[in-house]
Order: sequence, then C-alpha cells, then structure tokens
Amino acid sequence: MACVLAIETSCDETAVAVVSDRTCRSNVVASQIAVHRQYGGVVPEVASRSHVETLTGAIAQALIDAQLDWGSIDGVAATSAPGLVGSLLVGLTAAKTLAILHHKPFLGVHHLEGHIYATYLSEPELEPPFLCLLVSGGHTSLIYVKDCGRYEIIGSTRDDAAGEAFDKVARLLKLSYPGGPVIDRLAQAGNPQAFALPEGKVSLPNGGYHPYDSSFSGLKTAVLRLVQQLEGDGAALPVQDIAASFQETVARSLTKRAIACALDYGLNTIAVGGGVAANSGLRKHVQAKAADHNLRVLFPPLKYCTDNAAMIGCAAADHLQRGHTSPLTLGVQSRLPITEVMQLY
Ligand code: KG4
Ligand code: ZN
Repeated sequence: MACVLAIETSCDETAVAVVSDRTCRSNVVASQIAVHRQYGGVVPEVASRSHVETLTGAIAQALIDAQLDWGSIDGVAATSAPGLVGSLLVGLTAAKTLAILHHKPFLGVHHLEGHIYATYLSEPELEPPFLCLLVSGGHTSLIYVKDCGRYEIIGSTRDDAAGEAFDKVARLLKLSYPGGPVIDRLAQAGNPQAFALPEGKVSLPNGGYHPYDSSFSGLKTAVLRLVQQLEGDGAALPVQDIAASFQETVARSLTKRAIACALDYGLNTIAVGGGVAANSGLRKHVQAKAADHNLRVLFPPLKYCTDNAAMIGCAAADHLQRGHTSPLTLGVQSRLPITEVMQLY
C-alpha cells in the first residue's frame, strides 16, 4: 500500500489530499472562484499569489482531516503539468520541500492522468482498459486508458474545450463565471429544442467528418449571432431556452463521439471526468446512449470531477507502488500531452 500527500495548484483551486492507494483519507479544496469572478475568468498572477497564501494551511488541514502524521506518509506529490506555470510552481515547490524535509520520495503528476484516476476513487475495482471522456475547462479528450502511465489520445477538440465553450457562452449571455454550473441550472427550465444550433464537425480531406474530434468555436459563434439577432429584435433574451439549446448541442456532440469511440475500439466502459462531467445534460445523454449499446458509464462524484488533489494522490500512489519517482530537478510544464506522462519519472 502507498499513502501519498498530494498537492494540486494547476489553475484556480488550492487543493491538498491524503490518499492511500484508491482510498481518499482527506480532500481539502480551497476554491479561488470568488476572487476570479470579478474579472470574468482566471487571472494567472492572482491565482499564483492566492495559492501561496492558502497552501500551507491546506496542507496542515489535509493531515488533520486524515488523522495521520508524516510517519504514515510514503510519498509527496504535486501536479507538475499541464497548467498555469506560476500556479504549478507553487504546488511543486511545496511538494519538493516537504519531500526533502521529511525524507520521502517526490512525484510530479500529470493533471489529466489525475482526472482519469478520479474514477478509481469511487470505483476502486475498475481496471484498464477503458475509455475516458475527459471534459474540463482546458481539455476535451477521448483517451484510451491502457495502464498506469500508458494512454492513447483518440479524439480531442480542434479549438475550445467543452468547459471553455460553456464559460464563453455564459459570458455572451452576461452570466457569471464559471459559466458551466450557471448554464446547467438555467437549462433545466429551458426548452432544448427552442433553437437549432450547429454541432461543430471537423472535416477530413476525403470530404467526410472526423468521428472522434470535436469543435466548439462554430457553436459559440452561432450563439453570439443568435443573441445579436434576438437583441436586435428588442425582445427580452430567452436565456433559459438558449442555455438549454446550447447544452443539448454540446451533450449530443460529446456523447456521439464517445459512444462511437468505445464501440470502434471495443471498450465496454466509459469513465467521464473533468468539471463538465458535472453537467446534467451530458450525464443524461451519455447514460441513455450507453444503455442502448450495453456500455457501462462511470461518473465520479462531483467533488472528484472538478479539480482536486485526491485524484492527483490516487495517480501518484499507483506510480509509487510501481517504483516510479520523480527527480527533484523536475520542473513545471504548461503543456504536456498525456502520452508523455512517463517523462515525469
Ligand atoms: O476540471 P475543472 O474543474 O478544471 C479544469 O481542469 O479545467 O473544469 C472546470 C470547467 C469550467 O469550464 C466550468 O464551467 C465547467 O468545468 N463546469 C461545468 C459544470 N460544472 C463545472 N460545465 C457544465 N456543466 C456543469 N455543471
Ligand atoms: Zn482539471
């Protein structure tokens, strides 16, 4: 068994957790959303400063909540890529310092591998291979999970990530940041068939469409045009209907690609992860279509979908069990494909 203290500071949550293999012992998340909301999005400089201010207290709290001391910790981990460089640096430096101080191995973790491992926290019996539909503020990917550290990207977005599309459309509708939860709530009271919106498709040279890649920039522009047209007409904006139609289009597009991918690659389990996995429309769509094809769908609880350190600890514990540790010279990287995870060890 490996017990890891893990730190996640890749974006706007300061998170620390203690995880033993696939069991979460504590999960502290200090969200900066209230700070960034006044700017309408994440301000990198503000995010890193806020991590510095919050992290020490979060580390202490994670140990208290887990009712463990350093004697029970086998390793210290932090997200090292991808993410905001200044923010990553805060968590990574703290993890290295703790590792040196307490004579523990240090591990850098890939943020997306963490999102994949989130599913194991609620489904500890799950084993690869399976398909992960990873939909967050920064990523939209279909990942073939082969083993710890072994991934193949089968589909991705050509432009905006799904969460980014939610956030941008929310801004168009003058809703607050982050837009996903607000659109989700408004959509419950709207008609998803009110407006026909284009599901972005990625063209192939042979005239067909890419079966697994998505594109959301055209959809975002279509919502912009619709809003401009409705505002020009002088009527009150039917925000709930627009939210419901937009959400329906995104959910349909992601579901279609995930199901096609699982069937084509012979994978009978789809694990959905990332902040957009919280979306009620997406959950409904994926569940319904998967049932039609006898596929199993796993949605981690919301606390493990959005950014957290428990998922980072879960990934780190698996690597540590396999003897993987990172050199203390490991730096942060704003970008790193998930296929390159083993570079970190
Ligand atoms: O995974 P996450 O916490 O951070 C990243 O790694 O990006 O995802 C944040 C994204 C934001 O874009 C937010 O708007 C979106 O997840 N999100 C949602 C919902 N809850 C969060 N999108 C749609 N529906 C939701 N209920
Ligand atoms: Zn994330």
